[in-house]
Amino acid sequence: MANPIYLDHAATTPVRPEVLEAMLPYLSMTAFGNPSSAHRFGRTARAGLEQARREVAAALGTEPNQVIFTSGGTEADNHAVIGAALAARVRGGAMCAVVSAIEHKAILAAAHAVKHLGGEEIILPVNHAGRLELDALDEALMKRPAIVSVMWVNNEVGVVQPIPEIARRCADAKVPLHTDAVQAFGKIPFVLRDHPCALVTISGHKLGAPKGIGALIVRDRHIVEAMIHGGGQQFGIRPGTENVAGAVAFGRAATIAVQHLEAEAARLTTLRDRLAALILGSVPDIVVHGADAPRAPHVLSLGVPGADSETLLMHLDLADIAASGGSACSTGAVEPSHVLTAMGVPRDLALGSLRFSLGHETTAEEIDRVGVAFPGIVTKVRKLSTALGRA
Ligand SMILES: Cc1ncc(COP(=O)(O)O)c(C=O)c1O
Repeated sequence: MANPIYLDHAATTPVRPEVLEAMLPYLSMTAFGNPSSAHRFGRTARAGLEQARREVAAALGTEPNQVIFTSGGTEADNHAVIGAALAARVRGGAMCAVVSAIEHKAILAAAHAVKHLGGEEIILPVNHAGRLELDALDEALMKRPAIVSVMWVNNEVGVVQPIPEIARRCADAKVPLHTDAVQAFGKIPFVLRDHPCALVTISGHKLGAPKGIGALIVRDRHIVEAMIHGGGQQFGIRPGTENVAGAVAFGRAATIAVQHLEAEAARLTTLRDRLAALILGSVPDIVVHGADAPRAPHVLSLGVPGADSETLLMHLDLADIAASGGSACSTGAVEPSHVLTAMGVPRDLALGSLRFSLGHETTAEEIDRVGVAFPGIVTKVRKLSTALGRA
């Protein structure tokens, strides 16, 4: 029997064997120490931690003392938005967070929390292609918000935002920009030093490190308050005994991802486009979401008219293909994805959408298998969806 096919790398990735090998000594043996301890065990752990900080910084094109390790992307996103709003309040400024409508829930919920704390949230629209409306950004900047947060690559549709241009506009208005680069880091080339983004979120498990490690890149310490209070670790910005093994893994994974970025981006773009061509060749009314915008190589988001995504995913799973949906099930009711809704995708099509996301171990043979199997699954699901009155 053929192996199951994993096309859900935007959700998470397997830990790379080299990464596992690099982190293991920091869980056991001689390197398990607390990096704040002065003895040799502590010094060994500290050396591993600082090396990891250097590796992550080098992969991003920034400075090691700007890398603040966190428990992942969600924590870093919350820290950026709420921490910046609190810092603005301390300075006597407006506690206002400006975010795009297609942000990850970690950002949208954090902006909402700012409102609950007595501040303001402003949600910026995107166009049909999923790109930020820059006029709306300019208007919001006139309010001198505490923070603007716009993601570099969207996790559902893969659309790339013009972050260099957005960063320039924010810098001109003297407003700090945060970008959630969780789906961009290691996938599209950038050198952070070239762009005036004040804060950047990254997460390890999207590029071959384990879950539970991420970082907030803090390029200006005055613009964020600490969210966790404790000892003085990580410059007091994010105290708590550091996840040394996780950080070492992240450093290694980041280095590998960036080393192979160019070749891997070309390979994944070819595979993604091949998958789209195979599927559209058999089912031409399928829509590729975000097709009119630049997209990251690893994400293919499809809208299947006359089908519902839950049933599609179930049938893909039965065929040993793992993908994910464009909708979230909350309180029992299936709601269309907020990203697709913000892009103006009709509700029915949004409810029939799904995402394939590719990774370093995805092969051409797997893509061909999915490309051959998917049209048959669509036919079956369309019949079922019609019979159940769901599409
Ligand atoms: C764009 C984006 N931001 C933030 C996160 C959250 O990261 P983590 O899973 O490390 O908390 C994810 C993960 O799904 C993501 O795709």
